[in-house]
Amino acid sequence: MPRRPKAVELPAIGALDRSAGNLGRQLAQALREAVRSGGLKPGEFLPSTRLLAKSLGLARGTVVETFEQLTAEGILESQTGAGTRVAQALEVPFKTVGTTPFPIAVQQSVTLSPRATAFAKLAQQLTPLPPQPFSVSVPVGRTAPLDDWRRIGNRIRATAAGAPAGYDHPQGVPALREAVAEYIRRSRSVRCHPDQIIITSGTQQGLYLSCQVLLEAGDTAWVENPAYPGITSILENTGWRDRVARVPVDAEGIDVAAGIELAPQARAAFVTPSHQYPLGMPMSMARRKALLAWAQAHNAWIVEDDYDSEMRYAGHPFPSLQGLGPERVVYLGTFSKILFPSLRLGYAVVPEGMTAAFCGARALMDRHPPSADQHVLAAFIQEGHLDRHIRRIRNVYAERREQLVAMLERLLPAGLAWVQPCDQGLHLLVWLADSIDDCRLSAQALEVGVSVRPVSPMYAGKGRPGLILGLGDFSTEQTEAAAKRLADTISLV
Ligand SMILES: Cc1ncc(COP(=O)(O)O)c(C=O)c1O
Repeated sequence: MPRRPKAVELPAIGALDRSAGNLGRQLAQALREAVRSGGLKPGEFLPSTRLLAKSLGLARGTVVETFEQLTAEGILESQTGAGTRVAQALEVPFKTVGTTPFPIAVQQSVTLSPRATAFAKLAQQLTPLPPQPFSVSVPVGRTAPLDDWRRIGNRIRATAAGAPAGYDHPQGVPALREAVAEYIRRSRSVRCHPDQIIITSGTQQGLYLSCQVLLEAGDTAWVENPAYPGITSILENTGWRDRVARVPVDAEGIDVAAGIELAPQARAAFVTPSHQYPLGMPMSMARRKALLAWAQAHNAWIVEDDYDSEMRYAGHPFPSLQGLGPERVVYLGTFSKILFPSLRLGYAVVPEGMTAAFCGARALMDRHPPSADQHVLAAFIQEGHLDRHIRRIRNVYAERREQLVAMLERLLPAGLAWVQPCDQGLHLLVWLADSIDDCRLSAQALEVGVSVRPVSPMYAGKGRPGLILGLGDFSTEQTEAAAKRLADTISLV
């Protein structure tokens, strides 16, 4: 018989509060916390269910159930004949279960200016969620382009293109701009020459650059209501707080007539036409034409955030707005969704004549993106890997999406939470009953290892409560366990 590996001591687990009830749940939470804090390390064996039950004064069935629950969550794994241990896979991506991965210490010792105070507050708000269900854009399972990416990366880094070099051009390396131009021409009907492309460190930088280049102090900007916090945060914290016109969206996207009523002379409109963020509908052709007509008539700019349009499951992706009016549109694309967010590469396609202005603003910020990664990405696209990868992940996300919708429809408490139908993107929207505080609920979900974003803060004023749930290639068991925990959390509020 194989020797049972030495089990770890579990001092913290002794502190179960019998008066608080549900000891199994407390034990599960204590074990999650021990894993999260590093008290229990990946690969360490837990005492047997019999011993643990005895030492904690619990029924053995309670401990068995808890182990089963945490195994389904991917936190524990059982080894035939050897017992149960902390999942080895937690070594890297899951060590942050149950909390934000990069908590930022608030410095009490300095007096911050109002501007610095606002940035410090943003640092708390804009931290990523732990890479667990339902965090958006986590490259796990079949959605991670690992092998091809590594192979091409190794090859390029062994050549002059990937070798250490001097400063590069702020616009981005020509090979990548050419590859991107060709890709978005055929896949997104974007009309552009590579000279109109500026490689960015992702859409967030594209939005920031657009504000710097397109807006003067005192200019007004239209922003959808609700909207992506990435754009509202920039405008509200870099000088345009009182100059944001929040324009309502309806089933056809941004309500252009309402925008004209609110701020006819606005200098720019920030929109998500392919897949309104966060609500999910595409902008109708009538609205696209109306928006362009307004921009043309007022010499205003449209900033098109096209963040995940490749992922449309029923039919083809909607063509870009830029293709209808390249003279007035700054088109922003990103590789965060179709490849992975840590790459930090995206692009801005700017109207002819604006390239130099964007390059200058870009150089002031961070000169240029890392050249070697740009060459790796250029080769990845040119050699057909991106197209193949997109075809593959579209199938994976379609499958995961269908599965998650079915789970949620089965598990969510009726009358308190329901799924908004939508046929594209990497996230789902779950609406909550008006009585539910989605911010509090998201914090509670995080406590039980579920990553969701609240929707109400994306509205100006009092918002409708809801949750954004990212799709990912987490295992069916992990997804189901997270969906159950989320449903339980909603039921208990
Ligand atoms: C609406 C929207 N725009 C853009 C992005 C991507 O930003 P980035 O390219 O900076 O990663 C996201 C990511 O979640 C998004 O939701």
